[in-house]
Amino acid sequence: MRIDASTELFGIIGRPVGHSLSPAMHNAAFEHWGINAVYLAFETDSPAKAADAARTLGIKGLSVTVPHKETIMDFLDEIDETARQIGAVNTVKNLEGHLSGTNTDWIGAVEALRAVTEIKGRRIVVLGAGGSARAAVYGLTRAGALVHIANRTVEKAGRLAREFGCSFSGLDELSQTEADILINTTSVGMTPLQNISPVPEKELDRFSVVMDIVYGSKKTRLITDAERHGCRTVPGTQMLLHQAAAQFEYWTERQAPFEVMKKALLEAATR
Ligand code: ATR
Repeated sequence: MRIDASTELFGIIGRPVGHSLSPAMHNAAFEHWGINAVYLAFETDSPAKAADAARTLGIKGLSVTVPHKETIMDFLDEIDETARQIGAVNTVKNLEGHLSGTNTDWIGAVEALRAVTEIKGRRIVVLGAGGSARAAVYGLTRAGALVHIANRTVEKAGRLAREFGCSFSGLDELSQTEADILINTTSVGMTPLQNISPVPEKELDRFSVVMDIVYGSKKTRLITDAERHGCRTVPGTQMLLHQAAAQFEYWTERQAPFEVMKKALLEAATR
């Protein structure tokens, strides 16, 4: 890779980002197209300063991750309707100092699921009612799914469900919900809750597809349990890959080299 005076800079902001898999995917995509650009990880507590830095230094694009996806919105010049409805920005584009924000997490959720099954008209239970759930519910309802939201704190499930026209319940009432696709958006399965599944194993039999948005170097407990029960499974790396492909296209207006990005992601995830 050539780095010189005209190399363009992209990156991810968040905390922590030291183990982010995004640099591997985006740098592989730039290299594939011969684009003179690099993508780095910037660990920061300040989305305001990161936005200033992008304007001052001419950083062309930023991925935004936890905990800045909501707060970054105050420091942008423009936010598209999608990001506004989801209430979070995960992608920023800088056009001569004008920062625009969008959200590609919903594309990640929809495309990762669509790769294994039809979505329109399907009954899907989404576990969780936080920021990741919002993006998934936005995407799945737009794609024509009938979504049920199950969350530990039932009031939060109710608020999200009313906004997007879904049904809802507590996480402990899962056995009474009618659905054949299950998506976990809770943080159960992430450190420090790794090796824990948000769903009792006996509940998994009735789901034809189980998708997790949690990812790590190993399969989550939910995914290994679901495999054992004969469900088709979609690990969290798939959502990460599809949202990154959409980011790459938003920044560069070129087709994301999907297989190249996938290979880079899987290599980085097992490193
Ligand atoms: P994110 O932006 O990643 O979605 P978040 O907005 O903090 O993160 O949401 C975390 C989600 O995981 C919430 O739905 C949370 O449930 P509550 O609304 O009841 O807090 C869920 N969650 C976190 N820890 C959990 C646990 N131990 N058991 C069940 N759900 C859990």
